[in-house]
Amino acid sequence: MGDYLVSVLSKLFGQNEFLFRETVLGFLGWLNVLLALVAASLFTLRRVNKHWFANKNATIKNLLKPLSKAHPYIGAALLICAYLHGDIALGTIFKIHTGPLTWWIILVMMLVALIGKKYKVKNWLPAHRILAGALFAAIFLHLFFRNIL
Ligand code: HEM
Ligand code: HEM
Repeated sequence: MGDYLVSVLSKLFGQNEFLFRETVLGFLGWLNVLLALVAASLFTLRRVNKHWFANKNATIKNLLKPLSKAHPYIGAALLICAYLHGDIALGTIFKIHTGPLTWWIILVMMLVALIGKKYKVKNWLPAHRILAGALFAAIFLHLFFRNIL
């Protein structure tokens, strides 16, 4: 899948397929960081509004509505994008490595949210939040200590 994506994109941009691999890998990697930050901004913006503006900041409120709607799709996009990035980088998500670690955390987050919401499981949201903390810890390791695992 990742190889195919690199092949299509290198033809599209008229680039050498071998060299363009690094570009696609890096682009997807940083897109992952961006998607994770946008997904987590739901939490950050709510807390900022609550603690700094007594829940009265109209701009934040207007932003939160569409952000809350888009959030599950942003999470799903991250899961797919991280998979493609990982497929290009390692060719597998079944490896003990900081990269696949991030992917499995995102997958569990999605399952917790979907199953938790549908079956009204108690405390699924705090669990989802804790997993978000674990995800950022894993991303930190992946960026700065990539090969410790
Ligand atoms: C939230 C998920 C992820 C984020 C935010 C992320 C982010 C990044 C970033 C920013 C880079 C540096 C790219 C560059 O050189 O410009 C990178 C490299 C790398 N990533 Fe990820 N990644 C994620 C998931 C994964 C997954 C799932 C795998 C493996 C299955 C993986 C394996 C790798 C490897 C092996 C490299 C080094 C590639 C190289 O230097 O040739 N990553 N990642
Ligand atoms: C993978 C698919 C995902 C699904 C289906 C999903 C679903 C949800 C749902 C339904 C909520 C509650 C709705 C709301 O508060 O408006 C929520 C909240 C939350 N999600 Fe996700 N999510 C996903 C991925 C992620 C990711 C990747 C992150 C972190 C990077 C994340 C971080 C959070 C946080 C921190 C909250 C709590 C917001 C708050 O307390 O205000 N989610 N998620």
